[in-house]
Amino acid sequence: MTLYLIDIIAGARPNFMKIAPIIKAIKERQNEGGCIRYRLVHTGQHYDARMSGDFFTQLGIPEPDINLEVGSGTQAEQTAAIMIHYEKLLLENPSNLCLVVGDVTSSMACTITSQKLGIPVAHVEAGIRSGDWSMPEEINRMVTDSITNYFFTTSEMANDNLRKSAVADDRIFFVGNTMIDTLLFNIEKLCAPAFWNDFKLETGQYIVLTLHRPANVDAIDAFEKMLRTIGEQTRKLPVIFPVHPRTAKTLSNLKGLPENIHFVDPQPYLEFNYLVKNAKAVITDSGGITEECTVMNVPCMTLRDSTERPETVTIGTNELIGTVPEKLKPALDKLFAGKWKNGSIPEKWDGKTGDRIVSILERKFCSNQ
Ligand code: UD1
Repeated sequence: MTLYLIDIIAGARPNFMKIAPIIKAIKERQNEGGCIRYRLVHTGQHYDARMSGDFFTQLGIPEPDINLEVGSGTQAEQTAAIMIHYEKLLLENPSNLCLVVGDVTSSMACTITSQKLGIPVAHVEAGIRSGDWSMPEEINRMVTDSITNYFFTTSEMANDNLRKSAVADDRIFFVGNTMIDTLLFNIEKLCAPAFWNDFKLETGQYIVLTLHRPANVDAIDAFEKMLRTIGEQTRKLPVIFPVHPRTAKTLSNLKGLPENIHFVDPQPYLEFNYLVKNAKAVITDSGGITEECTVMNVPCMTLRDSTERPETVTIGTNELIGTVPEKLKPALDKLFAGKWKNGSIPEKWDGKTGDRIVSILERKFCSNQ
C-alpha cells in the first residue's frame, strides 16, 4: 500500500478545534488499514499556553510533529516567517497534500508555500466571505481559495461563493463543520471555570463578552464607549470577558470601567464553552463563537457590520449589531423582554464532518489499495 502524507496546518487558537476531528478520523482509519498519514505542523502564530497548549491538552490533539515557532509580528512579518520556515520543511521533507483550516494568516501562508512547490492544497471551511476587505481574515480566505485544489465547505452559501468564482463542482465538497464536531464531541465534558463561584454566576443570569478585532479594540475611545454601554445596558448582570492578548494591550490603558464587567484570562475550550452554553447571551466579534451559539441555541449579538457566516443569522441565533454602541441598546432590550429568536441547526452540522473529509480524501488518494 502506498501511503499518502498530509500536512495538517494549525497556527492560531481557532484552528485547533477545527483540526481535532480530522486527526481523530485519520487515526481511526489508519487502524483499519487506511492509506492516509498526517504530519501536524504548528506554525507558532499563537504560542501562549492559554492560546494554544491548553487546547491541545483538552481536545486530545497529539503534540505537533513540527513547530515552526514564528511568533508575533505584523501581517507581513508573520506571513513571511511562516512561508520561509514551511518552505524549508517541505524542501527537506515534502508531503503529498497541505490541509489548511479556516482563515488565519498561517492558513494562507502555508497554502501559498505549498502550491508554489507543486504540492496540492485542501481547504477546510472554504468559500465563506464577509465582503469586508479591511479584515485580514477576508484577504486570507480569498487568497487561499484562489489557489486551493479541494474545497471542504460548511454551507450551501459557501458552495455558491465558490461557484461564482468559477470553481468546478467536482472540487467542492459540502461536508459540514468540523468546529461543531468538536463541540458535540465535548458537550458532556464542558466544565465551569474556577471563578464560577467567586463571581456567583448562575445559569442564564450572566453575559459572555469577547472582543478582539482591530475595528473594535484598537481605538481606545471607541472601545471604552462600547464597554461602558455594555456595562450600563446589561441590567447589572455579571459580564464575563475573557480577554484576548490583543485586547489586553488596549485595556491596560483604561481605568474605572463598569464594575459588573469581569475581565478574566483567555479560557480553555471546555470552560469557555460551558460559559457560553449557560449564558443568557453572548456579545462578540468572533466568527466561530457565532456558530457555537447557534448550535447551543444561545442568543448571540455580533459587534460587526458583516459576517462570513450568514447562516448563523438566517438559521441560527445570531444578529449583526454593528460596531456603534447605540445599536446595542435595542438588541439588549429585545433580549431582556424575552423576545430573542430561537434558532435551528444548519445542514450537516452533525458531528460527522471529520469522517466525511477523511472518507473523501481516501476515495481520492487511496484508490490503489
Ligand atoms: C488571530 C486570527 C483571527 C482569530 C484570532 C483568535 C489572523 C489574521 N487572525 O488574530 O482570525 O480570530 O487569532 O485568537 O490570523 N499574542 C500573544 N500570545 C499568543 C498569540 C498572540 O500575546 O499566543 C499577541 C500577539 O503578540 C499580538 C496579538 O496577540 O500582539 C494578536 O495576535 P495575532 O496572532 O497577530 O492575531 P490575532 O489578533 O490573535
